[in-house]
Amino acid sequence: MTESVAAVEIDGVTKRFDDVVAVDNVDLAIDDGEFFALLGPSGCGKTTTLRMIAGLDLPTEGSLRIFGDEVGMAPPDRRPVNTVFQAYALFPHMTVRQNIEFGLRMRRVRNPELGQRVAEAIGMVRLAGMEERRPDQLSGGQQQRVALARALVNQPKVLLLDEPLGALDLKLRQEMQQELKALQREVGITFVFVTHDQEEALAMSERIGVMSEGRLLQVGTPREIYERPASRFVADFIGRTNLIEASVESPTMVRLADGARIAAETSMPTGSQVAVSLRPERVRLQPRGTAAADGSSLDGEVCDITYLGHAVVYAVTVGSTSVEVRSEGEVGEPFAPGDEVTINWDHGAAAVVAD
Ligand SMILES: Nc1ncnc2c1ncn2[C@@H]1O[C@H](COP(=O)(O)OP(=O)(O)OP(=O)(O)O)[C@@H](O)[C@H]1O
Ligand SMILES: [Mg+2]
Repeated sequence: MTESVAAVEIDGVTKRFDDVVAVDNVDLAIDDGEFFALLGPSGCGKTTTLRMIAGLDLPTEGSLRIFGDEVGMAPPDRRPVNTVFQAYALFPHMTVRQNIEFGLRMRRVRNPELGQRVAEAIGMVRLAGMEERRPDQLSGGQQQRVALARALVNQPKVLLLDEPLGALDLKLRQEMQQELKALQREVGITFVFVTHDQEEALAMSERIGVMSEGRLLQVGTPREIYERPASRFVADFIGRTNLIEASVESPTMVRLADGARIAAETSMPTGSQVAVSLRPERVRLQPRGTAAADGSSLDGEVCDITYLGHAVVYAVTVGSTSVEVRSEGEVGEPFAPGDEVTINWDHGAAAVVAD
């Protein structure tokens, strides 16, 4: 039996630019055929990580393997990877076909292989019929497809994508997300997709790596990252959440400053200062006193109501904090500011997060 080897394996990689630590001791293994997203705010080190995989930057420390081969110091053209950037960098004076062929011609690939591979790449990105147009005769989405085809035609084992949809408006962006996801399934190669847009990462990827200030904070499936954030940063960065300050009372219970208790599992020691993450859409609002005191409810008072059409958002004052409650598909508005209420949630919706 052969052991499966990671498509990309990053071991203790650090990248410094003078005194800036752009990437800080990152360990990461990306599986063969996986759609992996690197997610984090501007400046957290996503592009630098991608550039090191591509060979466009060299790590200051650590090692990097692609399909088991050490490539830490290898030049870009010696790596089975291709990169698609946000600025597509198409050659403006060349046609779609010439743009896509360019890399193959440089490597002296000739017909009939050249023609076959180009036609295949054009088919994959659905640009048939547009081969003779120049980039300025294409829409943003079509230009993005040319950039993709130009990378795919080289048959890389790993495709690196750095905010490839960043220049597109929201609707086109969402269409391209679905298209890219389908394309990745079809070609089966490993995609490493960089984005600062958490919804995009959740919608597209099999696993997400969340970065902040050069460090990789958490790696997991979209569901794991959303439901079980490992830190305040991740809980807050992915979607909206309520972070309620608390201290650990037992492995299954935390206590708020005013003495109220919330049932939630934690491995943090007794007395640790933590926060409980409660997603607004997991919390329900009921008239005061209707929920059992089982550690999955709190008493509060409605302080503000925001009508969003598809949802109503309530701000509920609970002790010294405000908890956001999001009610989807509500027809009327059964509560008014000043109402005394009880908020409750299913056991398990409360996640304890430390720093
Ligand atoms: N060539 C360079 N010289 C000096 N500092 C750099 C260089 N490239 C990146 N940095 C710094 O390294 C850090 C990480 O940058 P990087 O481009 O990887 O961030 P990013 O996560 O891709 O951000 P964005 O979402 O804005 O693209 C930043 O502080 C940046 O200023
Ligand atoms: Mg970047």
